[in-house]
Amino acid sequence: MATFVLPQTGVFALGTPIQTFYEFDLAEPRPDAATLLNVVRSLIVGVKTGQGSNVVVGVRPSLLATILPAQCPSGVHDFDADVVGDDGFTMPATQHDLVVWVQSGRLDAAFDEGRRVLGLVAPIATLKHENRGWNYHGNIDLTGFVDGTENPAIVPAAEICLVPDEPGRGASILLLQAWRHDMAAWEAAGDKVQSEAIGRDKATDDELFPKPANAHNARTDQDEVGKILRKNVPIGGATDPGTLFIGLCAKQSTLHTMLQRMAGMNGEPRDALTYYTTATTGAYYVLPALTDL
Ligand code: HEM
Repeated sequence: MATFVLPQTGVFALGTPIQTFYEFDLAEPRPDAATLLNVVRSLIVGVKTGQGSNVVVGVRPSLLATILPAQCPSGVHDFDADVVGDDGFTMPATQHDLVVWVQSGRLDAAFDEGRRVLGLVAPIATLKHENRGWNYHGNIDLTGFVDGTENPAIVPAAEICLVPDEPGRGASILLLQAWRHDMAAWEAAGDKVQSEAIGRDKATDDELFPKPANAHNARTDQDEVGKILRKNVPIGGATDPGTLFIGLCAKQSTLHTMLQRMAGMNGEPRDALTYYTTATTGAYYVLPALTDL
């Protein structure tokens, strides 16, 4: 047993613009815990240093509680029900059993690592989603806004993302959601309406003051809800552009409250951004500490 706690290093990796997520469901009959953990370990220890890819493995919360109960953070839950706003706006629950997050500097390294991942996981699980994120003009998302302005710096990011105590010390909770944008409606709205929807000025990235109550940065206001780390990336191409929301936190409730506030529940306003973009997937995964694997 290690005397120190090391998170999965890719959680804090920088400079890897190509982010691929493979989500899997376990095959029937389900593999036993030892077989599953051997595959998880082989995914991580087999990474070739110097080849330009990190690999992070996440496990469905309820599955981790059965295979590694002593390493599973308390009170975590699956994305097991759609998040539905008062007007019916829905973020779907599409929970799967495992996620493998491959972070690469180049497309060729991403491809090679993806083939290795699929080969290792094939005997125990079936691929359900592959989402490949890419980099658009640095840190701009496909709405045209800077994404990540209010992200924490690296040291507070560790405090925000890593479970501080046992069980599961050093683990992190990942919220993964693919969103698709209605670009025709967004572009037709123009810069002023877009800026009010995000709550920041599109040209300067300054926060609007006051920001509208239904602005995205008001519904997700970290001073009210709690802090998270976001590593969002663009997905899709010119015909199906979107954002892959990659949110990390030590507290699952912070992530889930943000979703509920965006959807507009309990008489609160619905996030203006959600009139232009639709969540097509939604799942939570626990990323156990490397030293627990
Ligand atoms: C289509 C999906 C999304 C897009 C395009 C998007 C984009 C943005 C942009 C442009 C900003 C303003 C700049 C910044 O501070 O980063 C922002 C802020 C933020 N977003 Fe999102 N976002 C999306 C979904 C989400 C979701 C699902 C969550 C939470 C579960 C979230 C949480 C936040 C938070 C916490 C902030 C900072 C709020 C603050 O100022 O304290 N976003 N987002």
